[in-house]
Amino acid sequence: MTYKLLLLPGDGIGPEIMNEVREILGFMDQAGLASFELEEDLVGGAAYDAHGAAISEEAMAKAHAADAVLFGAVGGPKWDRVPYDVRPEAGLLRLRKELDLFANLRPAICYPALADSSSLKREVVEGLDILILRELTGGTYFGQPKEIVDLGNGQKRGIDTQVYDTYEIERIGRVAFELARTRRNKVTSMEKRNVMKSGVLWNEVMTDLHRRDYADVELEHMLADAGAMQLVRWPKQFDVIVTDNLFGDILSDVAAMLTGSLGMLPSASLGAPDPVSGKRKALYEPVHGTAPDIAGKGMANPIAMIASLAMCLRYSFGLTDLAARLEAAIANALESGLRTADIMSPGMTQVGTNGMGAAVLTEFERLSA
Ligand code: NAD
Ligand code: IPM
Ligand code: MN
Repeated sequence: MTYKLLLLPGDGIGPEIMNEVREILGFMDQAGLASFELEEDLVGGAAYDAHGAAISEEAMAKAHAADAVLFGAVGGPKWDRVPYDVRPEAGLLRLRKELDLFANLRPAICYPALADSSSLKREVVEGLDILILRELTGGTYFGQPKEIVDLGNGQKRGIDTQVYDTYEIERIGRVAFELARTRRNKVTSMEKRNVMKSGVLWNEVMTDLHRRDYADVELEHMLADAGAMQLVRWPKQFDVIVTDNLFGDILSDVAAMLTGSLGMLPSASLGAPDPVSGKRKALYEPVHGTAPDIAGKGMANPIAMIASLAMCLRYSFGLTDLAARLEAAIANALESGLRTADIMSPGMTQVGTNGMGAAVLTEFERLSA
């Protein structure tokens, strides 16, 4: 079986961290662990500079044809003034929407070696293993109208629309309950039903779905603002958190800091399984962005990107042993005391992107011998 992978490194640190993933893919191929057919293309600012669009039609076609997409990051100050419709981030949003990648899994795991790297106390984060499930194709990101209207009196009005239909809430809810069954069997649904109609519907649909099909799973409802507070107060109370597109974006950056750095958090964006082949469209990307402040310096942490590859092996290819081995390689590299600048602490050895990527690869090779 040869897997068709599309690599979209993007901008800023995107290409730097993707290089480390390419090395690991090369080793897997060469060692006969898995066989890959790699395609590569531009996305984001790089695509805008080349084609005047944040993603070309050719790259979209490659994404549709691929078994999975590995995505770096897009955006940066260079493109702050480009028209809204072709800004770098539009390339990522188009991929999510056109591939219908509605389920975004953002696991926040505190590796034992990093229990002292978080801004929170060791006892708060030690052993943390939670999963934020973010709805990714609806809500304020895509709701219409979405525009700036000139009111003609010297005033303008900026409009974004939060919209959710029953089926959108139900399908992300199902993913939440199914995932919880493979973990600690608890789902916390976060919305703001006290001020938002979409929150009222979200709450109703989750409650009905739970009663109908998932009564064996514990379901808890939490207002999203209180949820943000609980996430930093005592995050270990959570197992699976399911929430909308915008709240999920914000809460997952908060969760990242529980693990030590935004440079640690991977993600998987999944579509529905095809009724005939059972295959699902998928894109894997770190939760972080292009880190303009450190781009080009070779100091970015590649672990979120490498852990996104591990999620790809698990969720797209069913290579669960290899995925677990790659995650163990990450843990071992951290245990050996190597740190990129973002997770550096006293007594540890600081390395750059290449140094950390090479250390993970060496561990991966050792575990594969
Ligand atoms: P960011 O995630 O790029 O950076 C936030 C902070 O985290 C910075 O200090 C950065 O140095 C640090 N950081 C992030 N990733 C790191 C890594 N791997 N290793 C070490 N440190 C890391 O967020 P931002 O600065 O708000 O956004 C910059 C650009 O990235 C914007 O254009 C934004 O739209 C874009 N962005 C893209 C994605 C994506 O492509 N998925 C995600 C978030 C932000
Ligand atoms: C993320 C990013 C994106 C989002 C941007 C770059 C469009 O912040 O993946 O978390 O807001 O979804
Ligand atoms: Mn984000």
